[in-house]
Amino acid sequence: MIISVIVAASENNVIGKNNQLLWRLPNDAKYFKNTTWGMPVIMGRKTFESLRAEPLPGRINIVVTRQKNWDPGKGNIAMASSVEDAVELAAKSDCRESFIIGGGQIYAESMTIADRIYMTRVHAVLEGDTFFPSIDPDRWILQSNRDLPADDKHAFPYSFQLWEKTKQSDSKRIK
Ligand SMILES: NC(=O)c1ccc[n+]([C@@H]2O[C@H](COP(=O)([O-])OP(=O)(O)OC[C@H]3O[C@@H](n4cnc5c(N)ncnc54)[C@H](OP(=O)(O)O)[C@@H]3O)[C@@H](O)[C@H]2O)c1
Repeated sequence: MIISVIVAASENNVIGKNNQLLWRLPNDAKYFKNTTWGMPVIMGRKTFESLRAEPLPGRINIVVTRQKNWDPGKGNIAMASSVEDAVELAAKSDCRESFIIGGGQIYAESMTIADRIYMTRVHAVLEGDTFFPSIDPDRWILQSNRDLPADDKHAFPYSFQLWEKTKQSDSKRIK
């Protein structure tokens, strides 16, 4: 199973503030939905709560928390006590790919096990309180890049980028 990270980050790697996103980019929301549809999505408890505590439809939702008695409320949510456990759980679904969808803590803990990064680079420098780790150019190679302009629905220009890890030995593949 390919372990992928999917994220939207500003030029200075900001991904959120006050447990919210800092932009509304409808094309990115569509891209996220199309890319992750039908696959397991792994997220931190805070990101889950930022989604109004509702599972993303059409996907296996796995929330990572240290709270043993955490109650996800409504919906069909699987819980995991670490990112590694969440990935093991995702692998049981027999999906070809699973997606780590944030937030900052979970991304930071996932960079060593991830094979791919689907990065929407938002071309702005913004203030925030949550960050994506820097992409180390010695470990990651940019496979594709598609630039899109700002328009009446998108306040900032942005680029869809696909990064792949250079050294397969760094990634923990789960068959
Ligand atoms: N731009 C984007 O693409 C994007 C995507 C997703 C999220 N975000 C933003 O990111 C922000 C949220 O990120 P965040 O860093 O504050 O929180 P987070 O990573 O979503 O969740 C953190 C929580 O995950 C659990 N956790 C973390 N590491 C763990 C471990 N090793 N084992 C078990 N549980 C663990 C803990 O839950 P407990 O406290 O319950 O133990 C922790 O409080 C929001 O602003 C959100 O909008 C942005």
